[in-house]
Amino acid sequence: MAGRIPSAWMDELYARTDIVSVVSAYLPLKKDGRRYWGLCPFHHEKTASFSVNPDLNLYYCFGCKAGGNVVQFVMEMERLSYMDAVKLLADRIHMTLPEVRDDPDYEKRRSQRERLLNANREAARFYHEMLWKPEGRRCLDYLHGRGLDDGIIRRFGLGASADQWDSLTKYLTEKGYTQEELHLAGLTVVKGESAYDMFRSRAMFPIIDQYGNVLGFGGRAMNDAKPKYLNTSDTPVFNKRKGVYAINLIRKQRDLKRILLVEGYMDVVAISQAGVVGAVATLGTALTNEQARLLKRFAPEVHLAYDGDEAGQHAIERGLEIFEAEDVPAKVLYFPDGLDPDEFIRQRGLDAFQALRPMTPTAFRMQRLRLRCDLETQEGRTEYAKGCAELLRKVRDPVDVENYLELLSVQTGFSRDVLVAQIGVSAPEASSQNNFTDKREKSEPKRGRVSEGFRTEQTLLGLLAAGAVPRDTVKETDFLHPALREAAKQLLSGRTPADIMGDENLSAEVLGAAGEAFSLLTNTDKDHAAQIASDCLRNLQIQRIQQEINQMTELMKTAETAEKQGEALKEVAALTKELARLRQQGR
Ligand code: UTP
Ligand code: MN
Repeated sequence: MAGRIPSAWMDELYARTDIVSVVSAYLPLKKDGRRYWGLCPFHHEKTASFSVNPDLNLYYCFGCKAGGNVVQFVMEMERLSYMDAVKLLADRIHMTLPEVRDDPDYEKRRSQRERLLNANREAARFYHEMLWKPEGRRCLDYLHGRGLDDGIIRRFGLGASADQWDSLTKYLTEKGYTQEELHLAGLTVVKGESAYDMFRSRAMFPIIDQYGNVLGFGGRAMNDAKPKYLNTSDTPVFNKRKGVYAINLIRKQRDLKRILLVEGYMDVVAISQAGVVGAVATLGTALTNEQARLLKRFAPEVHLAYDGDEAGQHAIERGLEIFEAEDVPAKVLYFPDGLDPDEFIRQRGLDAFQALRPMTPTAFRMQRLRLRCDLETQEGRTEYAKGCAELLRKVRDPVDVENYLELLSVQTGFSRDVLVAQIGVSAPEASSQNNFTDKREKSEPKRGRVSEGFRTEQTLLGLLAAGAVPRDTVKETDFLHPALREAAKQLLSGRTPADIMGDENLSAEVLGAAGEAFSLLTNTDKDHAAQIASDCLRNLQIQRIQQEINQMTELMKTAETAEKQGEALKEVAALTKELARLRQQGR
């Protein structure tokens, strides 16, 4: 889409648009140095970690990692497409849009992405209409048979793929889509010369993003056909590790208290029909960090409501770790008897569902541990008590610790004092210390769990973006982390940060890493910046040499001949000397 608008025109739009006044229309901002700060509109928070950088025309949230240029900000806030957001911004400053419509090649030049999204939308409509036709009868009966009514079927845009080889292929070909486009969108399978429909004889679940784009489909077999669910494989518009099923409906739900993350499409639809709000599911894979970050934007908390079977419970353990890594408060809903949410709500009703008490991660982990230990034996009780002590060491709220201790004492028969002592073993940050509030300095954004080298590279990239260091002092190859290297390459080619952040051809990794780097430091004056930059470059070199030394040392250990060992030793000596020189320079 971006390719459609001349980049010179876009540059003018960026230059004439004051991102601070655009953002200020939505949330109050406070100035601090060269930057502005406010409460992030994309996730719930109490302290400001949302920053706006007027120099680079960018925004970035250090909490949920949302970031981009002014166009993306408007897209997110107004739920607009790229083009419509550009139009809105242009209108605001009375800038005339470039003449794209008079161009006879307009249709052809429309970006592939938009074509594929349109094909998907047409497909979703086609499948949905099919439900009400005789060819879709079997699917409709199937969905009704699973307890879904027509209202919920319409709300989720469910559909039917008929028991035919090429009905969708024919339909979309007549609408002007090429075979290549249909194949790229994952709607057809190509075998030799011929193409046929990817989905046949399946109940269709369209996967729609927060902007209303149809990205792909999940198709449920109506019998024992394998696979049970067939999903669109990754396409230029669909990445199952990034999206979340039903996020389009969540988006409309303001002030949602919690998101309910379930395993299956059917679970989402069934519990929504029963009246549960805020349900979403991953797209046929385990939860990813990107999905956790996405969810963080829509509610202050996520409840994991996976199937009650062993596979589901195990997946919860993994999911909790991901939410913890991404700083997303999470709890667990446990369904007894191995039921999944769909089965539970149908068998026991909405009231029983709503009466389920969300468990804290610690309570859930204690429960899991308990299943593995035999509390009838002294050994089992000891193992369980030790395991729980391990868990309780990380609990920050003293009242919570006290409650768990009481439970644990009852379960194991160990006295509270013994258990406290056990928790105290090698517990430098015991719960008595007052460290359970996450105080965040406003101007010193909270730094995530990343390596030193990554930080150094990010700092360097930030300086480069701010124009604080001359371009010829930094090389693409100074960056070892692929995402940062790509961002550096873009900057070094002369593009502006705002332009880079608006490039949808760049991967989420690149945009995420760059967005943060561009927002790290902006208050530095030029002299100081040059100093920091050279420090960064030297530190990176030191780290690289250190790595080489480590490798060489390993080599020495495994060298087969004394000669080879001698060579490696010489190498290490040379590197060590170089290291000392660099360190000396740093003083
Ligand atoms: P489940 O096997 O738990 O299905 O898969 P379910 O939700 O209970 O579905 P019903 O009730 O039998 O219809 C949960 C999710 O795992 C993915 C799908 O996303 C599904 O919603 N899955 C499952 C697949 O992608 N492929 C499969 O073959 C099975
Ligand atoms: Mn099920």
